[in-house]
Amino acid sequence: MDRKQCCVKLSVQPSRGLMDEKFLVLVQSVLPGFQLTVYASYRCDDGHSWEAFAHYTANASGTVNVSEDHSLGGTYCGVEPMGLMWSLRPVPGSKPGLRMRKMNVLTPMEVTISVYRGHLTEGFVDQVPLAAVVVERWYMAPGVRRVPVTEGGLTATLFLPSGPGPFPGLLDLWGGGGKLVEYRAALLASHGIASLALDYLTPQITKENDVSVLFYNEWTNVQHPQVIDSRIGILGLSFGTSIALKMAVYSQVFKLRCVVCISGSHVQPIKGSVEQIMTSFHNNVDKTRFNEEQQVIWRDLLLPIPTDPSLKVEVGRLRCPLLMVVGEDDQNWPAHESAVDVKEMMQRAGNDHLLTVLSYPSAGHLIEPPFTPFARASSYKILGPPLQMVMVLWGGETVAHSRAQEDAWRKTLVFLRENLYRATSSSHL
Ligand SMILES: *[C@@H]1O[C@H](CO)[C@@H](O)[C@H](O)[C@H]1NC(C)=O
Ligand SMILES: *[C@@H]1O[C@H](CO)[C@@H](O)[C@H](O)[C@H]1NC(C)=O
Repeated sequence: MDRKQCCVKLSVQPSRGLMDEKFLVLVQSVLPGFQLTVYASYRCDDGHSWEAFAHYTANASGTVNVSEDHSLGGTYCGVEPMGLMWSLRPVPGSKPGLRMRKMNVLTPMEVTISVYRGHLTEGFVDQVPLAAVVVERWYMAPGVRRVPVTEGGLTATLFLPSGPGPFPGLLDLWGGGGKLVEYRAALLASHGIASLALDYLTPQITKENDVSVLFYNEWTNVQHPQVIDSRIGILGLSFGTSIALKMAVYSQVFKLRCVVCISGSHVQPIKGSVEQIMTSFHNNVDKTRFNEEQQVIWRDLLLPIPTDPSLKVEVGRLRCPLLMVVGEDDQNWPAHESAVDVKEMMQRAGNDHLLTVLSYPSAGHLIEPPFTPFARASSYKILGPPLQMVMVLWGGETVAHSRAQEDAWRKTLVFLRENLYRATSSSHL
């Protein structure tokens, strides 16, 4: 090993941060014009390995600054400060259809950043890096508390921000895949909002005619002195938006402060249980399409947007602000067409001042927190019976989708803070 090799300096700042925080990667003390590869690798909780890499040339001072220098090739090109995160992809030879989701939020995502001599595209494991550091990416900020909720047969987890509180609250609903998924709620709590991640697709809930009463009971079960009852919002993604919108418009018990709908729709039979909503979607299963790679496209199941008002949530009756986040290349839900119709309905009703639509060209369905690695398609378990795995096309294009995630998250946090924290005439915080 020559002297230059042993003296390469690599720093990543901060080396410990939140998942949605940027980091700075700096390589120093190499020869001017030295060609190198910056490589990121990550092994998930489930054992699958992911990687991202980019080719750089050191400047006249022998430095590469990933935040301002051009990547000349690799899993991303150009100046991309966080490309090493959002362009992470399964290592060659991995099982197809992987999607990265952190299931254990009590541990960080540990990403190894390393520097290799030359412009490499493969065989990283066979080479010795010139330098390497491990960075920690957390969904839970220091002091955030994770409170599992099991009362009344619930499957839920409450995340409380650090500090004495009390805090406004948020119900966090994921899509039709079911299960308890905690990472987004943990990250929202890291930004000051007490968030309840909820598995709402349990048999007990799906058969219920008014989920809002059930959720309210759940919420009162959870009833934590640190959560302010009068400052509750709801956020849903995909199928979660069906529930969120319905609660926002019809709930007699919840007085929601605001609603966030990511990649969803207001199209659903307005009377009936969660199970009946799902059945109504499944009735259109013959509208399923497949692309050349035999990936499932489900967006047509809700198209055309019905004109029959009993098949759409009456958004004209909405009394709280609504933020809709739309990926214009969503292949799973007709999010764009739905947002257009919601806007028209609200304009007719005269409450469109409550609506904000964030619409992103070339973004897909899975609009996640910033820097979440992009998955255009992934394997998906259809809730049985019969239980079945399919490859679902979500849509989107890596760079545009990653930019959309960053922008939408920043604006969602602003929207939530404004509507959940802002003092009203009747209450102060
Ligand atoms: C090389 O890049 C570093 C980090 O961005 C910068 O501080 C330095 O001024 C650059 N050197 C030259 C000669 O451009
Ligand atoms: C690297 O680039 C970032 C973003 O432009 C800048 O804030 C930082 O100071 C740079 N680091 C050095 C050592 O020049």
